[in-house]
This record gives sequence, structure tokens and C-alpha cells, in this order.
Amino acid sequence: MNLKLRIWRQKNSEDRGAMVSYDINEITPDMSFLEMLDTLNENLTLAGEDPVAFDHDCREGICGSCSLMIDGQAHGPVQTTTCQLQMRSFKDGAEIVIEPWRARAFPVIKDLVVDRSAFDRIIGAGGYITAPTGSAPDAHATPVPKPAADSAFENAACIGCGACVAACPNGSATLFTAAKVAHLNVLPQGQPERETRVLNMVAQMDDEGFGGCTNTGQCTVSCPKEIPFISIANLNREYRRAVRSSKG
Ligand code: SF4
Ligand code: FES
Repeated sequence: MNLKLRIWRQKNSEDRGAMVSYDINEITPDMSFLEMLDTLNENLTLAGEDPVAFDHDCREGICGSCSLMIDGQAHGPVQTTTCQLQMRSFKDGAEIVIEPWRARAFPVIKDLVVDRSAFDRIIGAGGYITAPTGSAPDAHATPVPKPAADSAFENAACIGCGACVAACPNGSATLFTAAKVAHLNVLPQGQPERETRVLNMVAQMDDEGFGGCTNTGQCTVSCPKEIPFISIANLNREYRRAVRSSKG
């Protein structure tokens, strides 16, 4: 495959940045999108140019590091992570536009790399339990109802990639926060902090400068882990419950 790439290049957080065009040839359909970018970077390095900075780690859909806006879609045309996207999803001769996540709370550090530490601070505000864990407990020592286990598992699948924020016209982190709250709030072990968790995590989300949720649903259709939209309704319900309880 021969492709034309238009890539956002930005030297650092102060630089204005601009789109730069590159031609790349001899890409095979079974390459991953990141392997295609590796090939581009090898070419740039051999030509004495600065390679394109982009985030990646596991390259198997687990860590959430990879984060590219591809042709205007978070993680590209398939509902998966950028590292799991194959070049066969594109036509030979295509022009592909590659940008970083664009959100006020995710400032660009360099090229395609953004600072997603706002997510870490939301998790730090409530993504923990205080139940003493000690040594590994026997399996099923704390009975967990099946619906609660299923719901916790579904929401625990969130890898913190930020596609939901990048896809949202408001730059909202509500789906991410909803997943992190739901993961622990439905479990017996998460009950002692059930109310402080949701209040603190939502307050931190607002402090970080994410936009509000207006139920556009772009988050859930862009989420590579298919975190369901109903998690946001659950978050709202948990928040109202916590506010009522805090007012006695
Ligand atoms: S909710 Fe989905 S899109 Fe958002 S951070 Fe988690 S895995 Fe990524
Ligand atoms: S590099 Fe880890 S999810 Fe893509």
C-alpha cells in the first residue's frame, strides 16, 4: 500500500503546531497502524529528521496508552484501540489524517502525545477501597451478587485511553468517571466509600476542566472497551444519592 499521511507536528506545548504531509510506501495490509508509524519514523530517522512522537506501550489493547484521532475518529474507523487497528482498514492510495486527542484537559506535550494525567487525578480522588486486604483472601470469602459482579467487570474494562473525551463535542470525561465509579460502587468491598467516591471523583473531573455531558453518546460508540452509555445514568443516580445523603 502507498499512502499519504497528514500528521499534526508540534515541537512542544508552547509551539503553535501544524499539519505536515508525508508519503509512505510499501505498507502491508496486515501491519498495525502503529507499525505503519514505526516505518515512517524509521524513514524520518534515516533522513536525519525528528521522528513523530506518539504514545504506546502494550500494543495489545490493554494499557490505554495509544491515543490517536484518525480521520476525525478517536482510534480510527474501527471500534478498537489504535494499536489493534490494522492497515487493511484503509484503501491503497488513501490520505490519512492523524491528530492528537483534542480536549482542553488534555494539553499536547509533543506531536501526537497529550498529557492525560487529569485521568490519574480523578482516579486518585476515589478509585480505591479502604477495606483491609491483608493476605490474599479465600475465593468467595465476600459473596458478590452475580449482577453486581457482571456490572463491576463490564466497567472495570475501561483502560483510561481517553477516546471518550476526544470524541465528545464537549470534551467530557463523564463516561470514564462513570466507569471508574461503577467499578467499585456496586461491589460490597466498595460500600464504605460509596458516597465520598462519587462526590470526590466528579469534583475532580470538574476541576480538571472537562466539559459537561449533554448525552450525545459519542463517547460510548468510540470506546474500544464498549463501556455502556447506561453507566452515565448510573453515575447520575449515584451522585444524586450521595448529595441527598450528605444533606442528611
Ligand atoms: S470509557 Fe472507554 S473510551 Fe473512555 S477512557 Fe475508558 S476505555 Fe477509553
Ligand atoms: S498500546 Fe496499549 S492499548 Fe494500545
